[in-house]
This record gives sequence, C-alpha cells and structure tokens, in this order.
Amino acid sequence: MFLDKDKDKDKDQDKVLARAFDTVREELLKAAGDPGHPFRLMTVATPDIAGPGLRQVVLRHATEAMHLYFYTDVRTAKVKQIKQQPVATVLFFDPENKAQLVIKAEARLHYRDKLARDHWSRVDYPSKKVYGTLQQPGTIIENPGNGYDYPDVIDDSNFCVVELITQSLDLYEIHDPEGLRARFERADDGWESYWIVP
Ligand SMILES: Cc1cc2nc3c(=O)[nH]c(=O)nc-3n(C[C@H](O)[C@H](O)[C@H](O)COP(=O)(O)O)c2cc1C
Repeated sequence: MFLDKDKDKDKDQDKVLARAFDTVREELLKAAGDPGHPFRLMTVATPDIAGPGLRQVVLRHATEAMHLYFYTDVRTAKVKQIKQQPVATVLFFDPENKAQLVIKAEARLHYRDKLARDHWSRVDYPSKKVYGTLQQPGTIIENPGNGYDYPDVIDDSNFCVVELITQSLDLYEIHDPEGLRARFERADDGWESYWIVP
C-alpha cells in the first residue's frame, strides 16, 4: 500500500503524500535489482504517427532523482520514436496492492557514450547476443531460426540505454470500494504533491 487510507481532514496530508512519494521511489530503486519485483517490468509508450508504440521492458536501473533506465536495440521502433519526440509514458502495475503508477518522462538515448559503455560492460555474454542479431528487430523472416544469426563478435554497435527522466507520477490505488489517487510533479526544488479525485 502506497497511499494512506486515513482520510481524516485534520491529518497533515502533505506528510502523507511525502511518505507515499518516498515509498514509490524506494520500490522503484528496489525493483531495478530484483527480478521478482512487480515494478521490474514496465510498459513504455512512445508517440508515433500510426498510434502510440507500446511495449514491456525491464527496469535496469533507477536513481534517487527518479531517472529510470532500460536497455534496447538502437535499431528498434522505440528508438526511432524517441528520436522524433523525446518523451515516454511508463506504466507500472502492482497487482497485490492494486496500484497503478503512470510516469511521464523526458527520454534520452545513450549510444556509445560513457553511460552506455558502463552498462554494456555489466551485460553478461548470453544477454549481449540479444543486441547482436544480424537482421534488425522487426524484420519479417520465413522461419523463427532466421532471427538468430549473429556476427562472429558481438560488440555494442546496437546497444542503447534509454534514460527516462521522470517529470510527473500519477499513482492510483484501489481501496475497495473507493480508489485513492495522487499526483507528483517535478519542481525546481523537489516534488509538488497533490491529491486527485480518482
Ligand atoms: C517480459 C518482456 C521483457 C522485455 N524486455 C525488453 C527490454 O528490456 N528491452 C527491449 O528493448 N525489449 C524488451 N522486450 C521486447 C519489447 O517488449 C518489444 O517487443 C521490442 O523491444 C520491440 O519493441 P519496439 O518495436 O516497440 O521498439 C521485452 C518483452 C517482454 C515480453
């Protein structure tokens, strides 16, 4: 549970919201290192003229400043979409707490820069192969086996780290029979918090 059910009007609601924000941040930090965490997988949407691009990715790293990172192949549609419009909307869902978290973020691509090289050095060999296919992701093939052709040496030439710089968070939690909803927005000196009508 992220949001406090206690709707006592005398309660210091700013503190309740600040605590909820801290809990969300802690869970995101934990999720990046825990394959079993409900926030380990995130659904990332990016704008595209044909309709939003949408896909699951693995949260690889998160920071106190609410920057989230995932890995991808530089040849994928999402990278093209981010190049065109450097934004993303991210959806997390925690079924146990019936909690939904929607993050709006500025998206930044890291390709063969220091950050990407640091992450590449931590990817183990079998996982590196994912970024080494000779044919680019999305190519139509006659047989699924044709998607696993690799060069002799797999380097970081297709490896890209996407950094999502959180601008706002919308947290919606079902507390039967009502929901609770809060919004957090990045401000110059921290985060602004609001309760929202669910
Ligand atoms: C459980 C799961 C985890 C995935 N993790 C990633 C990931 O971390 N990075 C990634 O690029 N694709 C990942 N994928 C594949 C994407 O969902 C997507 O199909 C692929 O990246 C192509 O996306 P695009 O064409 O929209 O760019 C994952 C798929 C599943 C089912």
